[in-house]
Amino acid sequence: MVASHSTPHADPVPPLAWRSWCAHQPIPADEARYLLLELLRLFPAALATPLYLSGHQQRRLASWVARRRRGEPLQYITGRAHFFGEVIRVGPGCLVPRPETELVVEHALATLRSPADCAGGDAAKRPNVPLASRSRRGVGRESVGLWRSVREEPNASPDRPLRRATGDDATKNVARLLAHDSVHGSARLSRSGQGPTGSQGDEAGRPAPVDLRRRATERDPAGGGALRLLDLATGSGCIALAIARQRPDVRIVAVDQSAAALAWARLNLHATAVEIRRGDLFAPVAGERFDCICCNPPYVEEGAILPSDVRGYEPAAALFAGADGLAALRRVVAEAPAHLLPGGWLVMEIGAGQGRAVTRLARPLFATVAIHRDYSGHERIFVGRQPP
Ligand SMILES: C[S@@+](CC[C@H](N)C(=O)[O-])C[C@H]1O[C@@H](n2cnc3c(N)ncnc32)[C@H](O)[C@@H]1O
Repeated sequence: MVASHSTPHADPVPPLAWRSWCAHQPIPADEARYLLLELLRLFPAALATPLYLSGHQQRRLASWVARRRRGEPLQYITGRAHFFGEVIRVGPGCLVPRPETELVVEHALATLRSPADCAGGDAAKRPNVPLASRSRRGVGRESVGLWRSVREEPNASPDRPLRRATGDDATKNVARLLAHDSVHGSARLSRSGQGPTGSQGDEAGRPAPVDLRRRATERDPAGGGALRLLDLATGSGCIALAIARQRPDVRIVAVDQSAAALAWARLNLHATAVEIRRGDLFAPVAGERFDCICCNPPYVEEGAILPSDVRGYEPAAALFAGADGLAALRRVVAEAPAHLLPGGWLVMEIGAGQGRAVTRLARPLFATVAIHRDYSGHERIFVGRQPP
């Protein structure tokens, strides 16, 4: 028997010299690398091994590069975006999920954990909820690195030095709010902002601990005791999907007014129990209340200068919200309290620099309000809580 290594090589196709290939494309090299990895469905680590492309793959890659050169968003070209460790199918009609929006998921997951877990105590005993965004690994990391955040003010400078946030920060932030509740319970404002609510609590005026699960059972008998979450303005369904994967025990309703966006949401959510409804903001959930409302509404000012691949391709209804960018945020803040259970949370993405305006709108309507920054140091997440 002749040893196989002595036979002539049957495959004359050389491996792709990917560095040189990327450097010679008519698009930025990191974008070319992204498309290459997406085409082959590989993690970046695979670049350390020889890559072989079939003729069909080479032609496909060339057409992808040509589309990108014409300005199409990378994720529309590949049909996939990476969000919180999930692959989200995207295309015309829905917004491409942004990495900043993973913070909405992280904060929402933190609110869905029992306050006893959130409000301090022995951290080692807390359930190991995977708050750190898994898309920061592997190919997802690539999309994060490539993505130009369109909603940032071009020259925005954070007003404090950057600290690399960890995934656990969301939990800690919510824990801080909850701890604040415990310490300042007697000073908690009523919804009208006129004075303390203080209807329940101990002799020292501290509020009774809130058991979200028990509360849901008591206040939402139709829900079978499950916690309820609303993903308002769901778009591709990325937030609902990420939360459904982490917390399959939570009943989730996803709402959007765009039929085109909901077609993508249906594709992304088909394997979940998420209920999809179409309509204007809270209209499809009239009379219903939730433990948590997540929302990434449009918040860009009309007339803002956006990259051409955003303005030219992504739906205007997903981006723009009036002259000051606050039109949708205003409505959500005003209408959310009527749809939150006592002690329920509104977790909402906002634009850089909108924190003060949103806080002013929300303060009279929520027991606690907080603005959290994203990994670039920009105001990004509003968290408001109803009085328990
Ligand atoms: C910024 S996108 C967010 C999409 C997705 N949640 C995400 O984070 O990628 C905003 C979404 O709000 C939807 N939208 C805008 N105005 C709305 C309204 N009045 N009622 C319901 N949905 C609305 C748009 O169709 C779009 O899908």
